[in-house]
Amino acid sequence: MKKFRLLFAVLFVFSVFLTACNSNNESSGTGDNGKETSSKLEIFSWWTGAGEEDGLLALIDLFEKKYPEIEVENAAVAGGAGTNAKAVLASRMQGDDPPSTFQVHGGEELNASWVAAGKMEPLNDLYEKEGWNDKFPQDLIDMVSVDGNIYSVPVNIHRSNVLWYNKKIFEENGLSVPTTFDEFFDVAEQLKEKGITPLALGDKEPWTATHVFENILLAKLGPENYGKLWTGELSFTDNRVVEAAEIFKEMLNYINDDHSSRNWQDASQLVANGEAAMNIMGDWAKGYFVNDLQLKVNEDFGYVPSPETDGYFMVVTDTFGLPKGVKNPDDVKKFLSVLGSVEGQDVFNPLKGSIPARIDADKSKYDEYGQDAMADFSSSTLAPSLAHGSAAPEGFLTRVNQAINIFVTQKDVDQFIDALETAAQDL
Ligand code: GAL
Repeated sequence: MKKFRLLFAVLFVFSVFLTACNSNNESSGTGDNGKETSSKLEIFSWWTGAGEEDGLLALIDLFEKKYPEIEVENAAVAGGAGTNAKAVLASRMQGDDPPSTFQVHGGEELNASWVAAGKMEPLNDLYEKEGWNDKFPQDLIDMVSVDGNIYSVPVNIHRSNVLWYNKKIFEENGLSVPTTFDEFFDVAEQLKEKGITPLALGDKEPWTATHVFENILLAKLGPENYGKLWTGELSFTDNRVVEAAEIFKEMLNYINDDHSSRNWQDASQLVANGEAAMNIMGDWAKGYFVNDLQLKVNEDFGYVPSPETDGYFMVVTDTFGLPKGVKNPDDVKKFLSVLGSVEGQDVFNPLKGSIPARIDADKSKYDEYGQDAMADFSSSTLAPSLAHGSAAPEGFLTRVNQAINIFVTQKDVDQFIDALETAAQDL
């Protein structure tokens, strides 16, 4: 008998211990519907480290001040443009183990991958409740909608077609910043002769090369024909696509030798240090220059649209939604409400380098670059980015990234065009 009592006592103490451990890991709160929720709010993204995480941390901070009872887990997976995060996300979604909410680009990355698979909850009620339907540009709402249902909330608008340059290098060498490809090659040749790397590239993760190439495609095709590539209305064998590939090939004569061992930050750093004159990157690079490297906009570095894309705005929008089957949908909606609020967007975007997705954000919170990007967004023709998931489904993008990776080393235009054309058969 004594033995049994002892056993029960041990089991009781053990179960109290387990419960305590469990409640250390999980927060509990009361949902909108009065039900207990008992899970962490897991925010999944690829925003870790230099130039990437400052905006996210500020947003989480704001959320925690508003909802101290909800425990947040920052579940970011490192790797630019979601190189690793997208694979982790796919296996979790397939295993019915979604994060509470996750970073996803508006357009095909959201719609073809997750909405089509029935993995997302519509958020029309939240948009209605928050009065968001006329607070986000219709173009953005369209990018996150399927058949009248809205599936995510945009936190920002990044511009992908930006050429960043080191001001000192251009001034000291009496050079003008190129706006056309002819000017680009002219300047590049002069820089090369002086022993300065004209263009920084860091294609350790191949999306950065796709990123440059898509901006050449936009320049040569214009937004309308660029858009036709993803619907199969325009073939990749079109002369203008071939010309874009030739231009990209020529550009590769002017990049840093160690491009394949650098990521986007390492490549941007070459421009910051004065080891390279220019790079073509999205405006998350501005977040990196300013927050991490303490550079000053229009003093240390300048920016222009990438060659021949003035008047066009290659859109990259990061959005967050509500996956089906999460334990804490009410907490997720609270997070989305903060992320979609003016206050949320204005703590996140000045640090991230992007402009707010909302049309009524406080413009005075943004630096000169941000103000210019806002003006350009409203006056430009928009185009969805391929490298950042909006233009075409993920499977196609993966094949383009593979093709471009081979192209950067082999520089074989015919082979590259063939690979694109073959990949396009699945579009
Ligand atoms: C993009 C993303 C940006 C930025 C960039 C580099 O795909 O939309 O927010 O993080 O990748 O990682």
